[in-house]
Amino acid sequence: MQVVRKIEGMQEISDRLRQEDKRIGFVPTMGYLHEGHLSLVRKAKDLCDSVVVSIFVNPTQFGPGEDFERYPRDEEGDKSKLEQEGVDFLFIPEIRDMYLLGYQTYVDVTEVSKGLCGDFRPGHFRGVATVVAKLFNLVKPHVAIFGEKDYQQLLVIKRMAKDLNFDIEIIPGRTVREEDGIAMSSRNTYLSPEARKKATVLYRSLRKGKELFDSGERDVSTLSQTIRKEIESEEDVTLQYVEIRDAETLERIERVNRPAAIAVAAIIGSVRLIDNIIIGRDQG
Ligand code: PAJ
Repeated sequence: MQVVRKIEGMQEISDRLRQEDKRIGFVPTMGYLHEGHLSLVRKAKDLCDSVVVSIFVNPTQFGPGEDFERYPRDEEGDKSKLEQEGVDFLFIPEIRDMYLLGYQTYVDVTEVSKGLCGDFRPGHFRGVATVVAKLFNLVKPHVAIFGEKDYQQLLVIKRMAKDLNFDIEIIPGRTVREEDGIAMSSRNTYLSPEARKKATVLYRSLRKGKELFDSGERDVSTLSQTIRKEIESEEDVTLQYVEIRDAETLERIERVNRPAAIAVAAIIGSVRLIDNIIIGRDQG
């Protein structure tokens, strides 16, 4: 695996791979890799000839008071995991090269970025869309894989790729979970053992919502209420939102008569966690 730190170096490699007719698969990450990330890497390997993974803790997607400075890092551990997966290139750019002095260009995906996490993290999706657009221009992939764990992010990126004519196929990867159901996340490392136990309420509440849906309930406010109650029954959990939205557009719906995303966010032991589940599609 070749580690690339320079922007020009990455672009040269991508140009060469394209000249050689190689199909480039790309998995952007912020590092501190877990099985969720690695499942996306495996998908990229299945679909492509060369796989590029990036690690970049992107300052523009963190708000003031968020965890940018303390975001967990483990470059050596990440490298060895990616090497084991047979990744071809690991791209680790520097902040000062990504955001040159005088930087002033941002990508704003106006509608899908609203609501859900958009309401609680102002500017977050603008930072995400901006850095992913930049990474697309550097890595020049044919295919890019994004996890459903961050469902709104996935839709923001899909919309951006469509609107800005990126000739890149955006492929979703299913959420990978721990045995107790909690969605894998680099931020789980912030949880105390006690908070970690409480955090299982998120997926439990989503399963409860899905069971109710499976038993025939279609009313969004009834489904939301059940999930909300389940989460609020756990002590020391501050619920931010429970939303049930159209799975393609995130538009509000009143009845679930097409695939829908149930998305939740809560603060548990001062750690902000999100999770979601898709209902009304073949394998929820
Ligand atoms: P990060 O949180 O490191 O996640 C990188 C990719 O892994 C994202 O596509 C995310 O959805 C996916 N992922 C995270 N946990 C997962 C899980 N449990 N199962 C499946 N996939 C999972 O998301 C980001 O970084 C950044 O916002 C980024 C897109 C890199 C832009 O900076």
